[in-house]
Amino acid sequence: MKIYVCFSVILMFLCIFFISGALSELERLEHPVTKSDGSLSFLVVGDWGRKGEFNQSLVAHQMGIVGEQLDIDFVISVGDNFYDDGLKGDNDTSFEASFSHIYTHPSLQKQWYSVLGNHDYRGNVEAQLSQVLTQKDWRWFCRRSFVLSSGMVEFFFVDTNPFVEKYFTDPEDHTYDWSTVLPRNKYISNLLHDLDLEIKKSRATWKFVVGHHGIKTAGHHGVTQELVDQLLPILEENKVDLYINGHDHCLQHIGSDGETQFLTSGGGSKAWRGDIQPWDPKELKLYYDGQGFMSLHITHSQANFIYYDVSGNVLHQSSLSKRSVLL
Ligand SMILES: *[C@@H]1O[C@H](CO)[C@@H](O)[C@H](O)[C@H]1NC(C)=O
Ligand SMILES: *[C@@H]1O[C@H](CO)[C@@H](O)[C@H](O)[C@H]1NC(C)=O
Repeated sequence: MKIYVCFSVILMFLCIFFISGALSELERLEHPVTKSDGSLSFLVVGDWGRKGEFNQSLVAHQMGIVGEQLDIDFVISVGDNFYDDGLKGDNDTSFEASFSHIYTHPSLQKQWYSVLGNHDYRGNVEAQLSQVLTQKDWRWFCRRSFVLSSGMVEFFFVDTNPFVEKYFTDPEDHTYDWSTVLPRNKYISNLLHDLDLEIKKSRATWKFVVGHHGIKTAGHHGVTQELVDQLLPILEENKVDLYINGHDHCLQHIGSDGETQFLTSGGGSKAWRGDIQPWDPKELKLYYDGQGFMSLHITHSQANFIYYDVSGNVLHQSSLSKRSVLL
């Protein structure tokens, strides 16, 4: 009798274990496809919110022009949305001064999908995630981590901030709002588990992962070793096409044929750091130290990406192809 009770209890725990292990808690949303050929166009900007200063306004102006030419579907922000210390609350007027009053071009009146950067974590994180901002400006959508699907593309937005050890052990004179992140190890392991599950489950033609911190970068901050150790294996195993980030205030393309490409778009405002670290020239396709942004145009067979400087000049373009198997 005792053995049976014991057996059922173990069985019950195993069931709970497997069921919870198979579920992901990541929020999912869908962006409707509006173009008849199913293609998708969007811009990527990062590290921007400086009330128009450091050429933020000029970059915004060029984004508007390119956004119109490409008839973009939405904009992605790769974090560091509000300098220096995020938003103080959902009533912080930096929201209007750095976002609503800056990205005014008609072509930019689209949904913005945003993640948080380390500077955002120095302020009130909940404020940036708040509905109140969306009521002030319908374009605003910011989450820690989420999945966005749009036709043949699936985007996996990842909160990379908690991975970075030094923000916890050596925060210098900064304070970070980790209130809903702690305990850190659990937050990270849940996130990696959910992300891996969602990418494996995805039937999308294209899989893009978006985060604030760089995995492969020759910029000022350099590679984020924690992400190389913990996130990169998931990207490689699941053959993710692109990893898109900010953090380094530059425009950059690193990649080898047939592997995940690493795109940095962190030139939304202050740039010109003047430091670049050595990188294999066969992999480093672009390193530009100044301001700018990127556009992407995705079809069933191609992903084209273009980098622009503060005057709208094309600095670099590249594309990935999907070979369809014809038998
Ligand atoms: C802004 O862009 C112009 C080029 O249009 C450049 O000459 C200037 O140095 C930039 N300003 C800043 C603060 O980066
Ligand atoms: C803004 O909101 C914060 C709480 O989030 C509050 O303490 C502060 O008084 C508010 N400021 C204004 C100007 O309404």
